[in-house]
Amino acid sequence: MYITPKHIYFIALLLLAGCLKMFAQSADKFFPKQDLMTIGSYYYPEQWPREYWERDIKKMAEVGFEFTHYGEFAWSFIEPEEGKFDFEWLDKAVELAHKNGIKVIMCTSTPTPPAWLAQKHPEILMVNAEGRTMQHGSRQHISWSSPVYRKHVERMVEAIGEHYAKDNRIWGWQLDNEPSHYGQYDYSVAAGESFRKWLKAKYKTIDEVNKAWGTAFWSIRYNDFNQVLIPNPKELIAQPSPHAVLDFKRFSADEANDFLGLQYKILRKHISPDQWITTNLMPEHVDVDPTRITSLDFVTYTKYLVAGYDKGVGTQGFRMGSATSIAFANDLFRSFNGTTGVMELQPGQVNWGKFNSQPLPGAVRMWIWHAFAGGNKLVCNYRFKQPLTGGEQYHYGIISTDGVTPSTSGLEYIKVINEIKDLRKQYNATAKMPTAYARRSTALLYNADNRWEMDNQPQTNQWAFMDHLKRYYGALKQFGAPVDVITEDRDFSKYPVMVAPAYQLLDANLVTRWKEYVQNGGHLVLTTRTGQKDRTGKLWEMKWAEPIYDLIGAKVSFYDLLPDSVQGTIKAGIQNYKWNNWADVLDPSAGTQVWATYTNQYYAGKAAVISRKLGKGTVTYVGPDTDDGALERAVLAKVYQQAGIAIKSLPEGVMIDWRDGFWVAVNYSDKPYNVAIPIGAKVLVGEKLLKPASVVVWKE
Ligand code: GAL
Repeated sequence: MYITPKHIYFIALLLLAGCLKMFAQSADKFFPKQDLMTIGSYYYPEQWPREYWERDIKKMAEVGFEFTHYGEFAWSFIEPEEGKFDFEWLDKAVELAHKNGIKVIMCTSTPTPPAWLAQKHPEILMVNAEGRTMQHGSRQHISWSSPVYRKHVERMVEAIGEHYAKDNRIWGWQLDNEPSHYGQYDYSVAAGESFRKWLKAKYKTIDEVNKAWGTAFWSIRYNDFNQVLIPNPKELIAQPSPHAVLDFKRFSADEANDFLGLQYKILRKHISPDQWITTNLMPEHVDVDPTRITSLDFVTYTKYLVAGYDKGVGTQGFRMGSATSIAFANDLFRSFNGTTGVMELQPGQVNWGKFNSQPLPGAVRMWIWHAFAGGNKLVCNYRFKQPLTGGEQYHYGIISTDGVTPSTSGLEYIKVINEIKDLRKQYNATAKMPTAYARRSTALLYNADNRWEMDNQPQTNQWAFMDHLKRYYGALKQFGAPVDVITEDRDFSKYPVMVAPAYQLLDANLVTRWKEYVQNGGHLVLTTRTGQKDRTGKLWEMKWAEPIYDLIGAKVSFYDLLPDSVQGTIKAGIQNYKWNNWADVLDPSAGTQVWATYTNQYYAGKAAVISRKLGKGTVTYVGPDTDDGALERAVLAKVYQQAGIAIKSLPEGVMIDWRDGFWVAVNYSDKPYNVAIPIGAKVLVGEKLLKPASVVVWKE
């Protein structure tokens, strides 16, 4: 038998599936299923007089928290002078937690190097796009690429790892804190050097870089790797090379993974195999891609919904955030290897937002339950006590400024802690996912490359990748579908439906896998902008988006964009819709159905949405991107209906999920919703008439 590239591809897939499985099992073992979800709170012993610690930790235990979280910002206390480590204070805090029956998440405090380190080695500091060097005085101001910083990180992590080696009072570890530069990129000398190394490893020769980046354009051509600089739009007169930008974003995300991997390896040498190592990522931040953080046991996320940015739905949405916010984070993070948690969930009012409203009473409790619904193993909050000093003075804690009284949102946490403890008594290890729900299982295919590429070349001020994706994701959740947000390395075949929103970059292999998925009975939905470029971001030397023509049964004739004051119109059956962000105009082949047609502009009468049968499945292509998502929702509903999959029709803001034998419904809208709970089902938490910012949990 000949070994063809196809064989190698399948062998690789099998090996990968095997690894993923092992990985999933090993992360699962850290969290006994019957515990369902564990709730904890951050405490900063170094920020409070020592005589408070006993009282505070005791209080934490009294109100029911099961774990705490120490030290992610404490480097200058752990190593007050170079090479002199002090764990006495931290030992005391760990002991107090243990005495009170509280587990400890120990952190590496890499986001806050001590003043002496920056003073001695200013080359560790990050440089932003404007060329400004960040300074000591806050946090996250260092370059992960700096060899000097890394050397000191290694020493500190080694010291803390050795000190707490096999200490069973420590439950698990968190590396760094929200590893990112909060939306900025690092342009330091060290980052430039590391970028060039990354390029060398990827392309081997400078000619290959020239080819991949198309550097003949504007005579950018390099003779040597040393000439390659980080593409910084602030230092360029006209557009940077999109291929260089894409590679720089990939590099930056890989650099975060590399930095975390470095710490992981050191800790793993010392700690017990029963202790896990994670970090806490921001799901929708663009500079660090959670799907590229592969060097840990599992990853957790942080979530703040009420900070003036997310208007949600209805008049009170700004006090609850959008239902898709926690839901999407759950479905993305859980999908990596089956295990995730929320390391920070907003504990009430915050200080750093556009405007910092009070969350609607009940919202904090609802969020925790929503995290539960999405399969999280732990929920923690920043922070147990409201700080009296420092940059986050106006930030709520579980305990308010007097140091002893629970805040209103603290009381909501305490309520859920007790509810979860009761729920554990109802846990049934043999519960199986209900069939009708499982039948709706849907995959949403995600690759940050697409987002990065289109962020750089949006083509219209109205293009927003995450909004586009969320229009589809939100519709799926209104159908009551369990969704996994997956990456391309996963097995597609277990999902009856798969949506790949705005999948601009692809290759022949992905198109083949999509085709096989459909031929074997899958229902694939592709949308706007899909298939226009290869993985380097080059346009195909073919017709526009031609690699997908055969799959979708149509040509993409051209695309159009409108001013925000002009509405494009579309008709689908007897319904009319509007668009004005993006429109792919389609030319269907024989046998492809037209589901919607443009009805104005010079291409009125041309196809906007098409669908075809292929093998045992279907492929649907949605050309336009609308503002209200109504067309997207209607198309998806038709896909399920034609596939014979029954869906729900929940109002926007209401979500219903199933987990471990429990149904959970939450309501982020401003209207009560009557949940259809079957007679005979047992309501365990809340009520069937689901008020805004509330939850109902039941068992059938
Ligand atoms: C998070 C961060 C915490 C704290 C919090 C305030 O993003 O990880 O350290 O700053 O915000 O809301």
